[in-house]
Formats: sequence, C-alpha cells, structure tokens
Amino acid sequence: MDTREKVVIVRDLYKSFGDLDVLEGVDLDLFREENLVVLGRSGTGKSVLIKIMVGLLKQDSGSMHVLGKEVSTLNTKDLNALRLKIGFSFQNSALYDSMTVRENMEFPLVRNVKNLTKKEVTMRIEELLDAVGLPQTINQMPSELSGGQKKRIGVARTLILNPEIMLYDEPTAGLDPITCVDINNLINEVRERYKTTSIVITHDLACAKQTGDRMAVLLDGKFKAMGTFEEVFPRAVDERIKSFYDYNFINS
Ligand SMILES: Nc1ncnc2c1ncn2[C@@H]1O[C@H](COP(=O)(O)OP(=O)(O)OP(=O)(O)O)[C@@H](O)[C@H]1O
Ligand SMILES: [Mg+2]
Repeated sequence: MDTREKVVIVRDLYKSFGDLDVLEGVDLDLFREENLVVLGRSGTGKSVLIKIMVGLLKQDSGSMHVLGKEVSTLNTKDLNALRLKIGFSFQNSALYDSMTVRENMEFPLVRNVKNLTKKEVTMRIEELLDAVGLPQTINQMPSELSGGQKKRIGVARTLILNPEIMLYDEPTAGLDPITCVDINNLINEVRERYKTTSIVITHDLACAKQTGDRMAVLLDGKFKAMGTFEEVFPRAVDERIKSFYDYNFINS
C-alpha cells in the first residue's frame, strides 16, 4: 500500500459546458512533494481541471479534495484560505506592465498578509528574486525583461505566499528550447528549496521528462495513462499517445 500523503484526491470528476463534455470521470492522486505532469491535446480540459482545483469552476459531479477539503463545498472565507496555499499562474497570466518587478511581487503579499514591515516585504521579495536568479531586476519594468525572465518573475510572484502546491499552466510556452530547459530547472529547484507539490501542464515532452516524477495523459475526458515517462511514452500502445511522443522527439 502507498502510504505517502495525498495532497489532492480527485474521484470520478465530471464537467460539461452545455453540450460539450470536457471531464468525464477523472481520477487522480497527487502525493506530497511530487511533480506531476499533465499532458493532453488542446481543449482536453487541463486548465478546466486546475480551475476546479482552486474553485474557479465547479464540477458537475464527483469530488475534488485539496489539502483535506472538498473544494466545491467551501464558503468564500475557506476557499480564500485554501487558495493562499496554492500558487497558480494561469496560462498567459502576465505581470502588470505598469508596475516594477518589486511592485508586482509586493501586490499579492501586502494584499494577503497583514502587518508586514517594509523591511520584511523587501527581504521576502529579495529572497524570491534570488531563488529565481534575477535579483538585479527588482526595479525594472516588465517591458525591459525577456520572455524567459518574465516567466521566472511570475514563478517568484507565485511563490511569495509560500504555497504548498504549485500549479504551472504551460510554463514554457513561447520560449526557445534553451530557455525552456532553464525554466524546467527552476521548477525542480523550487521543489527542492520550498518542498512544494506541483502540477505542471505542458505540451512539451522534454519539459515533461525533465520535471515530472509521473506523467498523466488526459484523453477523452479521463487520465488514460499514468506513470513515469518511460512507462507512459516510449512503449505507448494508444496511437494518440504514441503520436504525441513521435511528434516531440522524431518529427521536430
Ligand atoms: N468557462 C468556460 N465556459 C465554456 N467552455 C469552457 C470554459 N472553460 C473551458 N471551456 C471549454 O472546455 C474545453 C477545455 O478547455 P481547457 O481550457 O481546459 O483546455 P486545455 O486542455 O487547457 O487546452 P490548451 O492546451 O489549449 O490550454 C474547451 O473546449 C473550452 O472551450
Ligand atoms: Mg489550457
């Protein structure tokens, strides 16, 4: 029996939008300090799944337990308390262009944590910029940063409230392959340093291989394959999983 602590437990989760059935019986266990990679074609419901996880959408049926709580039953106060323990940066979620890096990072901190001194705020921001390797950018504007640097600052901003769970929705989208490797390393370093549990949504199998302890492939509304990279990909039987692999590693 697996005795590791489960931080997320999903059971028989369904979600439709009108006639469109998106999630059709999703089951998932996410273990503490695990990095789980979620893969799947565009529109299969990956983002919907993590939106249900943080209570931005509600499932039609089934359960979504996060850190011991059924998300759909929480009142606003408890939902906000849970969200503070989850660092989520949505796909394309950007920095505020009119604010410096420091102000971008200060924003979630002063809004959610009361009674911090100016010095404590600065120390926390400096620690996290240091963790993502960009201490020198503190007074810069987002427009002065590269795409990869912006992603790093986004990760630092997400970490500022000390989340237990990190949700990365396509962290390497739009980056060159070398910068992707840097971001993947960062995801691994974040886990080491802050002992976070993570879900990484990606289309990039190199990212998946580098960051994931386990892969979960969303197909026809369910996780159809789950296991280590080696278990899921090289010998995939399902044509659609196989072609995902072939396109990433052979045809590209
Ligand atoms: N709030 C919503 N209202 C109606 N339909 C929605 C809503 N959110 C998502 N959908 C639909 O649900 C399906 C799954 O969307 P989702 O964003 O989860 O896809 P995804 O797997 O994250 O895709 P991608 O890889 O392109 O990001 C899509 O067809 C989308 O149009
Ligand atoms: Mg998505």
